[in-house]
Amino acid sequence: MATTEQEVAAASADAAEESEAVVAEMRADPGRIAADFELLSAIGGEPGGGVSRIPFSREERDAHDLVAGWMRDLGLTVRTDSFGNTFGTLAGTDSTRPAIGFGSHLDSVPHGGRFDGAVGVLGALEVIRLFNETGVQTAHPLMVVAFASEEGARFGEPCLGSKAVAGVLQEADLERLRDANGTTLAQAMRALSFDPYAMPQARWAPNTLAAFLELHIEQSRSLDEEDERIGLVDAIAGNTRIRIAIRGRQDHSGGTPMSQRQDALVAAAEVIVAAESIANEPRRRATVATVGRLHVFPNSITTIPGEVEFYLDVRDVDSDRQRLTTQDIVTRAEETAARRGLRCDWEVVSDTSPVVLPRWLRDLTTAAAELLDVPHRVTTSGAGHDAGILSRGIPAAMLFVPSRDGLSHCPEEWTSMEDIAIGAQALAESIRDIDTFLTKEVAE
Ligand code: GLV
Ligand code: MN
Ligand code: MN
Repeated sequence: MATTEQEVAAASADAAEESEAVVAEMRADPGRIAADFELLSAIGGEPGGGVSRIPFSREERDAHDLVAGWMRDLGLTVRTDSFGNTFGTLAGTDSTRPAIGFGSHLDSVPHGGRFDGAVGVLGALEVIRLFNETGVQTAHPLMVVAFASEEGARFGEPCLGSKAVAGVLQEADLERLRDANGTTLAQAMRALSFDPYAMPQARWAPNTLAAFLELHIEQSRSLDEEDERIGLVDAIAGNTRIRIAIRGRQDHSGGTPMSQRQDALVAAAEVIVAAESIANEPRRRATVATVGRLHVFPNSITTIPGEVEFYLDVRDVDSDRQRLTTQDIVTRAEETAARRGLRCDWEVVSDTSPVVLPRWLRDLTTAAAELLDVPHRVTTSGAGHDAGILSRGIPAAMLFVPSRDGLSHCPEEWTSMEDIAIGAQALAESIRDIDTFLTKEVAE
């Protein structure tokens, strides 16, 4: 595979020349993207403007059904795999080639925003419309992808759909992964008429895709603060998630002297504050640590908490820092529990490594942003993405569009339709350039 900067620069220059005529015609339309958004956001829509379409929920499936219908309307051949991922394929002029894939996910965190994931899928549909309108035909087939269950919010493990196609989700995970109510992934799948043990059938054959591109909201502040329109992602942070259970003694809140308590919640609070300060140590630099889910038993105003279970989420673009920080926080939890005479048990729920995305593909997406003449920058993703999972076996790239005030995973999440249209247009240009680049590369 040609990967030198010179080759990419030459291919980009060729593609840019060929593109200029088309770029004049190809105009992504914020109005029609907005119309799709209105309909999609009504699924799981909430009064504050956000959505709840958690992994393997009825709402997630309804979103896939809606998008599958739109794919068909655009002339794509639609398939939903055994794990609930939806694919819409458009033939290329050369059926022997692997497809160029692009898309994202349709699920959300609980009480999340309407843009996370949806932007990449609706942006991908806009690309197909642009190509249909301007008569662009690629040599490679094109595959619009809506991955299932990207958010780790329900089961702890993120990117389930892309892990299934990449073959890294194990059958054991179907019973191991549980949500806050104790429902296993297998049970959640069965409730939606999926056969969980058909999951291995979702695994992609080698050479399914020549490349994968994901358009996504930034979920951070750099583009918004600098008034830039496109982020080209160089690396995606990894994440380690640990379930920690601290067990003390349930007792009366009035009758038990302060010196004789074994309060599991006070111990957990100490660990959570320690996690913040450990992640904040200057030597860890980009590490972030969060406790976002906590269960208190029996959760009664007049009872000293006997048991607390909470989930730690540690992320970094450096895998050593990611794992060492996790280890340090877990050690602190064990020490805190021991000092207070409590019991501490923990288990790794999920561990995903950071990835560096290939430079040659980023150079091609950068060339597309340059062609559109919009301010852009190279940036790193603190959030996890399906593109990161796929990139272990398939060249992958990500394009970010600005998140207002950097907010995400909340109802206030917002990206303007104009910015999404710019992102879709950059995606379209990138796909054309990648198609040209890979076609020339194989021919030479
Ligand atoms: C996905 O949004 C994540 O939690 O990284
Ligand atoms: Mn996302
Ligand atoms: Mn998300």
